Amino acid sequence: MRRVVFCAGQTDPARWVEGLARLLPEFEVEVFDPRASGRSDYAVVWAPPAALFDTETSLKAIFNLGAGIDALMRMPNLPKDIPVVRLGDAGMSVQMAEYVCHAVIRHTRELDLFESASRSGHWTFRKPTIRSHYPVGIMGLGAIGARVAQALVDFEYPVRGWSRTEKNLPGVTCYSGAAGLDPFLRSTRILVCVLPLTPETDSILNRENLAKLIEDAYLINVARGAHLVDADLLALLESGQLAGATLDVFREEPLPADHPFWSHPQIVMTPHISARTLRDASLAQIAGKIEQLERGLPIEGIVDRRCGY
Ligand SMILES: NC(=O)c1ccc[n+]([C@@H]2O[C@H](COP(=O)([O-])OP(=O)(O)OC[C@H]3O[C@@H](n4cnc5c(N)ncnc54)[C@H](OP(=O)(O)O)[C@@H]3O)[C@@H](O)[C@H]2O)c1
Repeated sequence: MRRVVFCAGQTDPARWVEGLARLLPEFEVEVFDPRASGRSDYAVVWAPPAALFDTETSLKAIFNLGAGIDALMRMPNLPKDIPVVRLGDAGMSVQMAEYVCHAVIRHTRELDLFESASRSGHWTFRKPTIRSHYPVGIMGLGAIGARVAQALVDFEYPVRGWSRTEKNLPGVTCYSGAAGLDPFLRSTRILVCVLPLTPETDSILNRENLAKLIEDAYLINVARGAHLVDADLLALLESGQLAGATLDVFREEPLPADHPFWSHPQIVMTPHISARTLRDASLAQIAGKIEQLERGLPIEGIVDRRCGY
C-alpha cells in the first residue's frame, strides 16, 4: 500500500492524520516514527527533524505545511532531487489581508491614541487623516502580497508593490528587481514585508533601505524575522525617521524575554499569528496534489530551488 508520513512537531497530529486518511483512502497515513521502515511515498511536514530524511529515503515529494519554506531549505539532508511543495494560499492570504489592513488602519486612523484617550476618560479630537498621505508599499506580490494589495486598493490607499519579476496588478504601481527597489522605497510611507526568506531577502529591512522611506514611515513585517535588522529598526525609531512598527515575526521565536521590542512604545507585536495554516483547506490542497502526482499530472507550488521559494 502507498504511504504518507506526517511529521509536524508543534501540531497534534491525530486530526491531521485522520483528515489525510479520509481524503486519501488508498494510502496508509502515519505519524513519523524514526524506528519505522521508511518506505513512505510522500511526506507532509512542518519543521521536521533531520531524522525524517535519513529514514524516509523513497519519498516522491515533500509537502510543507506552510507558505514559507526557508527552514526546510536550510536542512542539509533535504533530498535534492524530489519536489518540495509549499502551501499556496489555503486560506492564508485573506487572513494576511485582514491583519495588514488592520495594522495600516490602526496606524493611519490613530486608533492607539483614541484607545488610550478613552481609557483615561478623554473625549479627544484629531484632524482627519488623508489616505493619499499614506502610500503603502508591499514587498512581495505573490499569493499573499497580491491579496493584501487588493484589499488595500479597496480601502483606497495608494498602493505600490515590489517583486522579483514584473507584475501588473489593478490599482497597484508595480516595481521589480534590484533597480526597482530604490524608487519603490522612496515612494512608500507604510512598508509591508511579505517576501519569502532567501539569501537575497535576508536582512532586507535594514537601516539603508528603511531610511529611504518617506519621512515618518511605518513598518509592518509579516514575513520572517530575519528580514529585519532589529538594531536598525530601534535606531530609526529613536531618530524619529520611523513612526512605529507592527511585527508578527522575529529572528528568535518566541521572542526572548529581555528583547527591547517587548517594552518599546512604538512597536506593536503579535506571536506569529498573522496567517495561520488552516487544517481543512491545507489537507484538501495536499491530498489533491498527491492525487495529481499519482496520475502523472503537473502541480502548482513546487519550490524553485534556484530562487529558494
Ligand atoms: N507570518 C505568517 O504567519 C506567515 C504566513 C504565511 C506566509 N508567510 C510568509 O510570507 C511569504 C510569502 O508567501 P507567498 O505565498 O505570498 O509567496 P509567493 O507566492 O512565493 O510570493 C513571493 C513574492 O515575493 C517576491 N520575491 C521573492 N524574492 C524576491 C526578491 N529577491 N526580490 C523581490 N521580490 C521577491 C516574488 O516575486 P515573483 O512574483 O517575481 O516571483 C513574489 O512576488 C512566505 O515565504 C512566508 O515566509 C508568513
